[in-house]
Amino acid sequence: MTRDAAARAAELRALLDHHNYRYYVLDDPEISDAEYDRLFAELVQLERERPDLATPDSPTQRVGARPSTAFAPVVHGQPMLSLGNVFSEQELADFDRRVRERLGHDHVVYVAEPKLDGLAVNLRYENGVLMHAATRGDGMTGEDVTANVRTIRVCPLRLRTPTPPRILEVRGEVYLPRDGFLRLNESQIAQGAKPFANPRNAAAGSLRQLDPAVSARRPLRLFCYAAGEWLGGEPPPGTQEALLTVLADLGLPVNPERRVVVGYEGCLRYYEDLGRRRAHLAYEIDGVVYKVNDVREQQILGELSRSPRWAVAHKFPAEEAVTQVVRIDVQVGRTGALTPVAVLAPVAVGGVTVSHATLHNPDELARKDVRVGDFVGVRRAGDVIPEIVGVVFDRRPAGTVPFAFPDHCPVCGSPVVRDKGVIARCAGGLICQAQRRQTIRHFASRRAMDIVGLGDKLVEQLVESGTVETVADLYRLKPSDLTRLERMGEKSATKVITAIAASRQTTLPRFLYALGIPEVGEATALALARHFAKLEALMAADEEQLTEVADVGPIVAHAIATFFSEPHNRQVIAALRAAGVQWPALEKPAGGALSGKTVVLTGTLEGMTRDEARAALEGLGAKVATSVSARTDYVVAGRDPGSKAARAQELGVPIVGEDELRAWLDGRRSDFGDR
Ligand code: IVH
Repeated sequence: MTRDAAARAAELRALLDHHNYRYYVLDDPEISDAEYDRLFAELVQLERERPDLATPDSPTQRVGARPSTAFAPVVHGQPMLSLGNVFSEQELADFDRRVRERLGHDHVVYVAEPKLDGLAVNLRYENGVLMHAATRGDGMTGEDVTANVRTIRVCPLRLRTPTPPRILEVRGEVYLPRDGFLRLNESQIAQGAKPFANPRNAAAGSLRQLDPAVSARRPLRLFCYAAGEWLGGEPPPGTQEALLTVLADLGLPVNPERRVVVGYEGCLRYYEDLGRRRAHLAYEIDGVVYKVNDVREQQILGELSRSPRWAVAHKFPAEEAVTQVVRIDVQVGRTGALTPVAVLAPVAVGGVTVSHATLHNPDELARKDVRVGDFVGVRRAGDVIPEIVGVVFDRRPAGTVPFAFPDHCPVCGSPVVRDKGVIARCAGGLICQAQRRQTIRHFASRRAMDIVGLGDKLVEQLVESGTVETVADLYRLKPSDLTRLERMGEKSATKVITAIAASRQTTLPRFLYALGIPEVGEATALALARHFAKLEALMAADEEQLTEVADVGPIVAHAIATFFSEPHNRQVIAALRAAGVQWPALEKPAGGALSGKTVVLTGTLEGMTRDEARAALEGLGAKVATSVSARTDYVVAGRDPGSKAARAQELGVPIVGEDELRAWLDGRRSDFGDR
């Protein structure tokens, strides 16, 4: 039985390695994803039952290592060299001439390879198993990124040979393909994070993630192009061409665009051909690398301090162009964020005509000081929206003026507020047409007014058809307004209308959160409700009074005051109340409903962070402790509570869930009982 399990684990690992290789390296899978998943699950199960069977090269080990706090320095077995650059045919001819002179013959054979724009890494295989991976660093010492490199699916954890060298260092480039880069940036933007400027930065940022689980979600790839230390096993090959073939045979990804070429002419032909196909490659390249093929000749040519004399990078001209700014538009996104966009005199950049470029945000615009009439450098990074690199100040025409960023929304005319970061936002959330869909979706969401059945599709249709303009219109809807829409039957229509009607009875914190005031999340909504108790009092508060609320600083106070000063927003709020939206009155808390109680938080809360929950509990007078003892009054347990919940159970300390926590904070419940 023991032997069987061990044998099956080994068999599964070999199978999974094989199918990984077919899928990721050869791009030619033999089995379906579902079949792969089944094999994988079987191995996970086996290793869980028999942890002694798990090996460091198991396909299950790609993620799993814990986040490290820093990247340890690693000294490379052999230095990682860089490359000299040439930028023109003349410089390439000079390079080739120097090589020929030193070698004393005229027929130099080179290997030409695409030069990927990524991050160089050194992979150290010991007896065929990937043991360490490091960045290039300064060439002598890099950073240990083993856990992160393990998550790269194309990177074999074990070499595909029964007779591996004892030590093999493989050098290659970690990169993000264009589509992966686009997907990553979309999700960055969706999460409110800053998009990466180009695939290179994105690859570097992804690989140098302290948490390998984050690297694992990034679609990183790898091409290998050189060897470092090589001890034992078959001797290293005598040519670059053979080396690349051997690396590929070992299961390492090697760029299929590599070619053997002869002389300067051969190099140039390759360069021109690849240049034409550059835009169609799945990844960005910034040039071509030529390497003298024969390793003995490489040794004759030798090395300069940082780069070999036997190789050179031939760079492509940058994907940049200069053009004139015709106009600067300010676009309003679905969340009310205002983005300045430069309208340009059309210009070809990297083979595509560009007439718009983003300036990201008002700070960026001010920093670059882009003005209407300016000549600017424009760059395309992958397929992302082109961006402005900078102003050509020498060519600035006379009479230009700094761009005045609008202080009112170009769509609805509401005031513009700055958030804590760099984003300018329209404060007319309740009426701005650009934000309608988002505002209504947010209003109806579970943690806000909790209108079940009012999903994305329906909101879209209601807004498109002009049936609903503001959230107050929801309360005027009749079933017939809904059945008029596509795919809406009588029954579901009635359900939605009932849910809308039921949402009239709410709580003040929910209502405040539902309004979508910039900078006001659930925790702030709660703090505001508790502080002011009445909506009228909150709406009448000035910025100074607002900053008296726990956790409300000047930026948030400004955003809130501006929101309520916008007459359209006030109208919508009045309409909501007239439609019957109401909440139980809150007593203005004296002393705090939890005063004197000790509370411990554990597990993950869905609606707020730990810090927010702590602040809110402290606002109720509770003392928030970190460990459970007999003196603890309550343990609040979120998802996946840990040992603290178990300890509470042992000690008989009451455990409450997130719903109860919310009820306390909403002021819906004050029966905290006494222990
Ligand atoms: S060979 C001794 N080959 O370019 C040879 N480098 O500018 C060392 N690079 O640090 C490198 N693609 O990060 C080589 N096919 C390729 C490459 C390549 C990209 C990077 C590598 C290197 C940098 C030098």
